[in-house]
Amino acid sequence: MYYPEDVIRDVRERTDIVNLVSGYVSLQKKGSNYFGCCPFHNEKTPSFSVNTKEQFFYCFGCHKGGNVITFLMEMENLTFPEAIKELADRAGVTLPEAELSPEEKRRIEARTRLYDMNREAARFFYYQLAKTEGGAHARAYLKERGVTDAYAKRFGLGYAPIGSASLYRYLSAKGYTTEEMEKARLVSVRGNRVYDYFFNRLMFPIFNTAGQTIAFGGRVMGQGEPKYLNSPETEVFNKRRNLYAMQLAKKSHRKEALMVEGYMDVLSLHQAGFDNAVASLGTALTQEQALLIKRYYNDVVLIYDSDRAGTQAARRGIPILEQAGLKVRVLRVPGAKDPDEFLKQNPPEAFQALIDQAMNPIDFEMRVLEEENDTQTADGRVLTVNGMAERLAEIESDLERQIHVQDTAEKLKVDPALLAKKVEEVRRTTGLLERRQNGRTRQEEQGLRTDARMQLLGVMIHRQDLIPLLERFISQEDLKGPEGAQDLYAAVAESLFHHQAEHTEVQKADLISLADRPEDQEKIAHLVQMQLPEERDDLEKLLTETVRAVKRRALEERLARLSAEENATAEDLRSMQDIIYERKSLETLRIQLPGSGGQQPEGGTVL
Ligand code: GTP
Ligand code: MN
Repeated sequence: MYYPEDVIRDVRERTDIVNLVSGYVSLQKKGSNYFGCCPFHNEKTPSFSVNTKEQFFYCFGCHKGGNVITFLMEMENLTFPEAIKELADRAGVTLPEAELSPEEKRRIEARTRLYDMNREAARFFYYQLAKTEGGAHARAYLKERGVTDAYAKRFGLGYAPIGSASLYRYLSAKGYTTEEMEKARLVSVRGNRVYDYFFNRLMFPIFNTAGQTIAFGGRVMGQGEPKYLNSPETEVFNKRRNLYAMQLAKKSHRKEALMVEGYMDVLSLHQAGFDNAVASLGTALTQEQALLIKRYYNDVVLIYDSDRAGTQAARRGIPILEQAGLKVRVLRVPGAKDPDEFLKQNPPEAFQALIDQAMNPIDFEMRVLEEENDTQTADGRVLTVNGMAERLAEIESDLERQIHVQDTAEKLKVDPALLAKKVEEVRRTTGLLERRQNGRTRQEEQGLRTDARMQLLGVMIHRQDLIPLLERFISQEDLKGPEGAQDLYAAVAESLFHHQAEHTEVQKADLISLADRPEDQEKIAHLVQMQLPEERDDLEKLLTETVRAVKRRALEERLARLSAEENATAEDLRSMQDIIYERKSLETLRIQLPGSGGQQPEGGTVL
């Protein structure tokens, strides 16, 4: 641990988990807990819960769970100390100097240098554009495209000069190593020569939402391939998780985000007063990007280019945005290839009018289908109606589906009852109904359930009062991993037994700190969220079975170890006999909870 335990606890206790999570997920109160749509996987029905009492989150769908620290680590892709620092800042806690492990220290330093180096590169490009002779034609290009100096500056635009290693020399002089530059993908090394990754391009720096420079997009001026060259992914640049210009759009006061295709579209829109425009980074829209928008907006207008590729991209993008909980409308720019072109010919008000009239996704689909099929012919109309039935079938809310069925039927001039029937048929045959009822992680859940050791630990966490009873049957040793290994669950067991010996309770949220890796934290979260059977009988059965299974495995492992011993001593043989006897007695082991039955000796018994 890099900060003292009590400092971490202080930060945790001063952070209200509901408050923190609400910044990313819209939560609804249900009883003493809160529910919302999970930010870690796609879903429409909320299975993400926040437990206020334990200050814990858990998703019943994807099983992610943890405390405020792990939540922030996941959401913001932070390291443990970074998350502590961020939460401490928010809570106004002053941290002592962090005791970082050397490895952690190195990682943070390397990352900071990567950000700094990218910023230096952006500065270099900006200088080339604004001040140098070589940048003259880039300045002319921007002017021709109507980009003002103020907006070029706001977006940090730059120019990568013609020289093959200008940036390399500049960054070297600033003290960065070739290896670092290569890691940031700002240069590439071939043989013993180093080349700048970008040359003779108009440069669009890409920022994360915190405003740090993470990558670049470079456009050729005039002809040339590729038209746009983007930085490859690096340790700080994940294309799926970032959006172009989100660092600006997150501050907009407009109601809805505008999702467009190109960097130049974003620029032109901002310049025309639409400071809510963002674009993906040269790849198809991702779920992570949709969630990023959802963090700042509830509504989004998907604006797509008027070619076929644009239409398909919109079709694919709609469900992704909807699954993130966004209300989506769709807009196709009339009479122009893209928003940038439209704004060259029309005033901002005209674009605002387009936004106001943007279509809902169902109308959009109808329009697309009507264009694909010749609706003058009967065949074409049948294809359109069938296509719409498939689209309508995907609407999960019964009420919404019914309303859209009605509306669509009127527009297509078909009997609403017929269309409704068709839609339900589609839902039955494509399994849309069951898919929703079953959830997607049944298999995963079974895998988790079958582990007796895990179940037993789950009970012990929730009923720490039962540990003295259980200790009569099960030792800390028995709860170790395969072949007695010290693993995650063994660590949980150790903590439980330790607190028991000290007559203290383990705080559930503290258990999380036993794990460093997110997947381990999830496992612990799973234990903490485990539901115990409500009936005493069922709990007794569960305990009996899990104790038997855990004990049997432990005994068998011990037996195997002893049998493998080449020079078995007399004592070993006695031990083996004991084990065999103990294993036999497991068959009749029954665990009874105190107070039940009455005539049992206190606690339970081995018959
Ligand atoms: P202008 O032609 O300058 O108006 O650019 P645009 O923003 O309108 O670009 P376009 O509609 O051609 O492409 C939209 C987006 O797709 C661009 O902003 C880039 O992010 C991406 N893109 C376009 N061409 C390429 C390419 O050749 N390679 C890569 N990786 N991405 C591209
Ligand atoms: Mn364009």
